[in-house]
Amino acid sequence: MNEKRFRYAVYIVIVILILLFYTKDLDLFGKNFYKNIKMIDHPDAIMVLVNKTYQLDDHYVPSDLETISISYAYENKQLRREAKDAFENLSQEALSLGFRIVATSAYRDYDYQKKLFEEYVSDKGEVYALECSAKPGHSEHQTGLAVDVSGSNDDYDEFESSPEFPWMKENAHRYGFILRYPKGKERITGFKYEPWHYRYVGTEVAKIIYDEGLTLEEYYDKYL
Ligand code: DAL
Ligand code: ZN
Repeated sequence: MNEKRFRYAVYIVIVILILLFYTKDLDLFGKNFYKNIKMIDHPDAIMVLVNKTYQLDDHYVPSDLETISISYAYENKQLRREAKDAFENLSQEALSLGFRIVATSAYRDYDYQKKLFEEYVSDKGEVYALECSAKPGHSEHQTGLAVDVSGSNDDYDEFESSPEFPWMKENAHRYGFILRYPKGKERITGFKYEPWHYRYVGTEVAKIIYDEGLTLEEYYDKYL
């Protein structure tokens, strides 16, 4: 190797070392999901953050679960009282405008989430399961503050193409709900885009998250 080539190779190695140094803490490939897991101290807080880092105790059950009116939900779907009232009001306003927004899944206990996750793994493989289903203890549905909805096409998976979706996207925050897993934020939330999954955080926080286009993780980083 002549001197010029040798110097060139040294420069490249130095640049690579600098890049590695400055990117070592970035979660570029989701390698930190389900690592350094922390147990949640205040699971009853309306602002509770549940994700691939923050975990709920397997025995945690909210104490104020109430059943959503069958006018706005599949049978026996429960949310915490405050979220339930807000969801019923949201669906009622939607209905008065000709939109049908129905809760297809709401509170799910630890064991049910465990079963769901394991079914995903056996049906679709672990890589896919990890992108769309939370491991037990890591699902917001265990908080009683998250709801999956369907529109008048009656398929939550197709909610984005229902006439209800544009309305829900622009109005959910007025009732305290946020689109929890937005498109393009998968590296932050750890989950695929879910147009059907909404999380109750209260109207004040929901408005900020909506206005600024944040995820709940980004809201925590910026404001808490
Ligand atoms: N599908 C969402 C991420 C859950 O399993 O909670
Ligand atoms: Zn959901």
